Amino acid sequence: MNKIVVVTGGAGYIGSHTVVALSDAGYTPVIIDDFRNAQPWIIDRIEQITGHRPAVFDIDCQDEVKVAKVFDQYETIFGLIHFAADKAVGESVNNPLKYYQNNIGSLCTVLKVAEERGVRNIVFSSSCTVYGAVSDPVVTENHPVKAAMSPYGDTKITCEKIVRFTQAVSDSMTAILLRYFNPIGAHPTALIGELPQGIPNNLVPYIAQTAKGVREKLTVFGNDYNTPDGTNIRDYIHVVDLAKAHVSALAYLSSKEKQICDIVNLGSGHGTSVLEIIESFEKVNDLKLNYEIGPRRPGDVEQIYADASKAKNLLGWTCEYEVEDALKHAWEWEKTIEKMETK
Ligand code: UFG
Repeated sequence: MNKIVVVTGGAGYIGSHTVVALSDAGYTPVIIDDFRNAQPWIIDRIEQITGHRPAVFDIDCQDEVKVAKVFDQYETIFGLIHFAADKAVGESVNNPLKYYQNNIGSLCTVLKVAEERGVRNIVFSSSCTVYGAVSDPVVTENHPVKAAMSPYGDTKITCEKIVRFTQAVSDSMTAILLRYFNPIGAHPTALIGELPQGIPNNLVPYIAQTAKGVREKLTVFGNDYNTPDGTNIRDYIHVVDLAKAHVSALAYLSSKEKQICDIVNLGSGHGTSVLEIIESFEKVNDLKLNYEIGPRRPGDVEQIYADASKAKNLLGWTCEYEVEDALKHAWEWEKTIEKMETK
């Protein structure tokens, strides 16, 4: 019997790619997702890619009775990867209670259920947003966590503490907090990828929709930053690489006899500017993008990228894909969505 890993939010963007990576690595992923920000047909696509249909429970992670019933169906659960959360920074500013209630409520519920059943290996999906405005753009995990600029960011900081304090007094748990930089791209089969609801907040989905003609033009949020071309620098990481890091994280946790709560940055270790992303997207996909330079977006950090050495040393994980691959896959995925929409 393969090892069972419960994946909350397993039908979402990073979740679905992680379910594929787990399946490819010989695990049996079990998805809990209420499809508030995901499509049920993603499960068919996961099956198409892996040849295995994962068990799926359409459940709100805040519902303790239902979550407990899922866990109780399995004699032994090897691990829990908790993705399920709301993630739109702007929306969180306008609707903080939605974010505090869902993101914190969901974590507390699944963690409680997992702890009561002695589930050992816990992986929590966090973000580099916890570092806030950084003075040195390269951040290690030792960089202090700063006061959050949005309720979304604050839920990530709070959830990290919840995992840490829970793990510290648990007889069974060992945990890892994964701080993602900027995940982009889609599965190379173009069968799964990001499905933003409404107008995308993030750069690459906005670029892809502009290339497709869904959006008229992309606005570059400021070119007067203190960077070589004046635009913001981020650490973009292919979502398939990010997904594989979760498999490495589980292997790492289970190899440690001692119970721990580690923190690991997941990034490529390289910074790329907004203009460089646009140029690469145009080049690899052989098209022209309609864009203009606009004002800065409030709250944007000038530049930030990961010191990714801990991920390499601890998890034995590094990125296999380049930014160019991710931009090619993002465009291929966008074209598949088009085919689906016009069916
Ligand atoms: N950008 C544009 N135009 C757009 C969209 C984005 O120029 O239409 C720029 C942004 O100003 C930024 C870069 O593209 O410089 C990347 O922006 P994203 O919104 O894609 O990503 P962020 O780095 O702002 O946000 C990401 C995650 C958040 C997380 C944050 C932490 O999406 O969840 O990192 O820094 F909180």
